[in-house]
Amino acid sequence: MEARVLESVFPTDTNPRGRLFGGQLVAWMDKAAGYAAMRHARNVVVTAAIDHIDFRVPVVQGEMVELIARVESVGRTSIRVRVDVHKEDAIEGTRTLCTTGLFTLVSVDDAGRPTPVPPLTAATGS
Ligand SMILES: CC(C)(COP(=O)(O)OP(=O)(O)OC[C@H]1O[C@@H](n2cnc3c(N)ncnc32)[C@H](O)[C@@H]1OP(=O)(O)O)[C@@H](O)C(=O)NCCC(=O)NCCS
Repeated sequence: MEARVLESVFPTDTNPRGRLFGGQLVAWMDKAAGYAAMRHARNVVVTAAIDHIDFRVPVVQGEMVELIARVESVGRTSIRVRVDVHKEDAIEGTRTLCTTGLFTLVSVDDAGRPTPVPPLTAATGS
């Protein structure tokens, strides 16, 4: 299962030198991971852990970022999602993998208790 999110980097997303705040990018990645996990679970999910994030290349004001979130594995109630972030100059068309991260989300019921998720199959996998 996969989810794609596009964002544009505005001045309010950047530091005084025009570089995207890492925390803003993590928020976008968390959102994309949540969409992919919800599509798999067909249920509400919460983020249990953000395990590893590599900020490889800076992103600057005016660039677009595409976040591609893919379910990599599932447990009984948890879903592991990898998020790859590509930055893109919309005018030039250049595209670079700039950040990667791994997220663990858990499917929960109305009371916030973990609930089982479907297994990953060829049909639900990416
Ligand atoms: C995530 C949460 C629902 C887990 O509840 P819990 O009662 O600890 O649940 P359990 O111990 O039964 O674990 C449930 C599953 O979550 C996984 N899990 C729990 N904490 C985890 C962590 N820190 N990292 C990775 N996986 C975790 C368990 O491995 C288990 O997976 P499985 O069922 O696939 O084997 C609960 O801790 C919670 O609500 N946390 C706050 C979530 C939140 O608000 N997120 C937004 C950020 S503030």
